[in-house]
Amino acid sequence: MRVLDVGCGVNKYPGSIGVDCNPASRADLLCDLDHFPYPFRDNSFDQIRAIHVIEHVSAVIGAVEEFHRLARPGGRILIVTPHYTDFSSFCDPTHRWHLNSFSFRYFGHDNAGFGYYSTVKLHEISVRLRLLAFWRWLGFEFAVNRWRRFRLFWEHYLCFVIRGKVIEFEFEVLK
Ligand SMILES: C[S@@+](CC[C@H](N)C(=O)[O-])C[C@H]1O[C@@H](n2cnc3c(N)ncnc32)[C@H](O)[C@@H]1O
Repeated sequence: MRVLDVGCGVNKYPGSIGVDCNPASRADLLCDLDHFPYPFRDNSFDQIRAIHVIEHVSAVIGAVEEFHRLARPGGRILIVTPHYTDFSSFCDPTHRWHLNSFSFRYFGHDNAGFGYYSTVKLHEISVRLRLLAFWRWLGFEFAVNRWRRFRLFWEHYLCFVIRGKVIEFEFEVLK
């Protein structure tokens, strides 16, 4: 498996190539994710991991398009980011974006009429939410992850009270 860990920080995924802009990180290559293109060839990786980094970059669509370019057809993109209702989302002043569990649907079939945002297409394999422990104990985490329609209802009506924590997205790269 050829794995690229973008914004790897000090927790680089074992066996991966890590990129980060911070020289104090464990990156194999210092690279600014706000400057395109990233210094790798098309279709170079089986998996792209962006763990708690997409909320930091200047252009979400541009970064995802780069992930798509670097992944082979059928490769995987894993994105982990805080839900916008989590404490951490607005606490960290280096976060530029505050996302929800439908924020990447514009790359898929369910694009709410906004499929023209990007020519890049991704197949959503899974979206998994983690909620605060109290709500998990009451079964809300199970329900949000079990039924997509309930997740939509939760995003619209409940999430300011039953707050989210982390969202984990996995996509298959379509080319
Ligand atoms: C919250 S840390 C996450 C680190 C690691 N992925 C983890 O899960 O522990 C965000 C990382 O993204 C990096 N980063 C933020 N903006 C970046 C950019 N424009 N180019 C490269 N790296 C960036 C930061 O240097 C930092 O290491």
